[in-house]
Amino acid sequence: MKKGLFITKSTTQLIAESNDDSHGLKRVLSRWALVSLGIGAVIGTGIFVLTGHAAADHAGPAVALSYIFSGIGCLFAGLCYAEYAAAIPIAGSAYTYSYATLGELVAWLIGWDLILEYMFAAATVAVGWSKYFLPFMRDFFHVNLPEQWCRAPLDYIDGHIVHTSSYVNIPAMLLVWVISWLLVVGIKESASFNNVMVGTKVVIILMIIGLGWGYIQSSNLTPFVPENTGEFGKFGWSGVLAGAAKIFFAYIGFDAVSTAAQETKNPQKDMFWGMIGSLAICAVLFVLVSIVLCGMVNYKELHVDAPVVYALEKAAGDSLKWLRMAVEIAVLAGLSSVILVLLMGQPRVFFSMAKDGLLPPMFAKVHPKYGTPHVTTIVSGLVCSVLAGFLPLNLLGELVAIGTLMAFAVVCVGIIVLRKTKPDMPRPYRTPWVPVVPVLGTLICLGQAFALPGDTWLRLFIWMAIGLVIYCFYGVKHSKLRQMN
Ligand code: ALA
Repeated sequence: MKKGLFITKSTTQLIAESNDDSHGLKRVLSRWALVSLGIGAVIGTGIFVLTGHAAADHAGPAVALSYIFSGIGCLFAGLCYAEYAAAIPIAGSAYTYSYATLGELVAWLIGWDLILEYMFAAATVAVGWSKYFLPFMRDFFHVNLPEQWCRAPLDYIDGHIVHTSSYVNIPAMLLVWVISWLLVVGIKESASFNNVMVGTKVVIILMIIGLGWGYIQSSNLTPFVPENTGEFGKFGWSGVLAGAAKIFFAYIGFDAVSTAAQETKNPQKDMFWGMIGSLAICAVLFVLVSIVLCGMVNYKELHVDAPVVYALEKAAGDSLKWLRMAVEIAVLAGLSSVILVLLMGQPRVFFSMAKDGLLPPMFAKVHPKYGTPHVTTIVSGLVCSVLAGFLPLNLLGELVAIGTLMAFAVVCVGIIVLRKTKPDMPRPYRTPWVPVVPVLGTLICLGQAFALPGDTWLRLFIWMAIGLVIYCFYGVKHSKLRQMN
């Protein structure tokens, strides 16, 4: 075992922690609840909005290939996650896994990085949700909500932060509070809500595929890979790559399933199914939706706010009007469950960090009646709601993607290290073809990260530097593992 900044947890300690149920979290989740949580987190803004943008700006109809490419990267990372999650079923996810392999400093930094994936992404999606909520209230209930109270006071346009005429995004904040309350009241209640939302969105997506298929015109799908314009990332094969980096956001969230490890009845067996099962189902749906979308209208027209609604209207006119309205409901339901699962993941990572002494002990409290980490859930919900209410979140979307890609890459590298440093650790599931799968997983994730703009990298470094300062002032002194050794 290494010491100092790179101190790692021993196998005995990890097994003891995962077998110890005195943390107070309730083991209620089944295999299917995990698959549903995964789908809940994944199907959201990405498929309903970014597919159209990636097709129009980068890949054309070959956005379906972007989904396959990005999906393979996620699959490789997911297979690595599954080995960890089955062997070390602890709520901290990539944070805990890094603590077992790459040491405390890297673990802290990945935990800090996960805030981008969970809390910032939840805030981003809440803002997206409010954009759909306004027209929904108008179309379905003839209620016109005042725009000034439904948008952030700041916006981010062409690299500049500007003031808008709005005050605060109340619907986004309210949604985050309601979901946080649900998460405090119980994991079972939250999972039931998630099941309803997932059922709604999956049924409507299947209808889009089934009914939209009849409106596909083959001329819209040829050439399938439009010729490159001479600029990297503008169509051609480099466009497929750039498209993959753009739609990667759509896959974000399947790994949040691993944060429910301590609330799962049989994590050793079911974590694999929860993550890989939900990822596979979503990947198939994504590829089919993107073919239908680009088949219904010319891809050049798809850079609009609601590409799926637009394509249905253009291709089918009024004959599928009811489906267009159903899509609005699917988006609202879909985005709510994305926020729910991401906001379930965040407090559980904080909870694990507090158990290890890297955050104040208050964060490791579990509600005596509800059996949920209520303090971290409330804190995460409050911070997330402020982000959603006031900040120009379009600048954060790419930051969320880069943060997640980094976490995935570290998990992949960690599996190779784990096989070397803890070869005898009991592994209920083993990642196949190590080191090929983790190496390819790392390369695909880093490849997508390098396709993101330099500004995004700069923001990532600033965010990580803030995390490093907090670790130096708090974590170094309070780490339980260091005190024990
Ligand atoms: N995958 C989630 C979405 O697309 C974050 O909204």
